[in-house]
Amino acid sequence: MSALSHPVVDLSGVSKSYGDLAALRSADLVIHHGELLAVVGPSGSGKSTLLNIMGTLDRPSEGKVRIGGHDIDELRDRDLSALRAATIGFVFQQFHLAPGIPALDSVADGLLYSGRPRAERRELAERALRRVGLGLRLYHEPHQLSGGEKQRVAIARAVLGDPPLLLADEPTGALDSRSGAVVMELLHELQEAGTTVVVITHDRDIAALLPREVRLKDGRIEHDSAVGAAAGELTATGSTR
Ligand SMILES: Nc1ncnc2c1ncn2[C@@H]1O[C@H](COP(=O)(O)OP(=O)(O)OP(=O)(O)O)[C@@H](O)[C@H]1O
Ligand SMILES: [Mg+2]
Repeated sequence: MSALSHPVVDLSGVSKSYGDLAALRSADLVIHHGELLAVVGPSGSGKSTLLNIMGTLDRPSEGKVRIGGHDIDELRDRDLSALRAATIGFVFQQFHLAPGIPALDSVADGLLYSGRPRAERRELAERALRRVGLGLRLYHEPHQLSGGEKQRVAIARAVLGDPPLLLADEPTGALDSRSGAVVMELLHELQEAGTTVVVITHDRDIAALLPREVRLKDGRIEHDSAVGAAAGELTATGSTR
């Protein structure tokens, strides 16, 4: 069966506890191909916990996690790493670029273990950097790049292998509003090109511009606009009658 016939992410009754602390409580969340959604909520509400579970970086304490139809309980760590490498790109608030390394190498190194020859890795990296509008910054080192440019290098690295799912944890958190807007525009473009994108943000203005919003509070999903919208749609069209 093709991966496209399954949701990209399907969480059912997912909880995560750290000792006595319930960081995530019984979360249900289905994300379909091509969606772009914001995850919002106060500090400590479980946003990063949720993202790390979607990203298979963490296993839940309870509940089912399916990524592209794969039940992660059934995968050994090695197979899970392979699934993650093929399926998911990550972008974080801090760009994690090694000092002294030119952008092209920073991005190309993302393919170090892909078995591709160096020339091909660099060619793909160059293409990814052009895609994020950094064709003129290929040889700039992190200290020669603005914050927004650094984040675009990190995004180029995350989308290098064309993962169907991109998870971004506060990608604009360290940026001024103009650079943040450029990064958000880029995430919109990636979605238009077919990538499913999940963005954690503290910024209400950013969240308001995205098609779907999932709100967390004290580890619970207290609102999901897709669920609300689906109910509203039925009422609006009268199709439930
Ligand atoms: N590895 C861990 N060990 C113990 N507690 C943790 C761990 N990771 C997260 N927590 C706790 O779980 C809760 C949720 O944390 P999480 O990082 O998901 O919050 P968040 O919504 O991303 O917050 P922020 O907006 O500040 O990044 C917090 O109370 C946090 O202290
Ligand atoms: Mg967080």
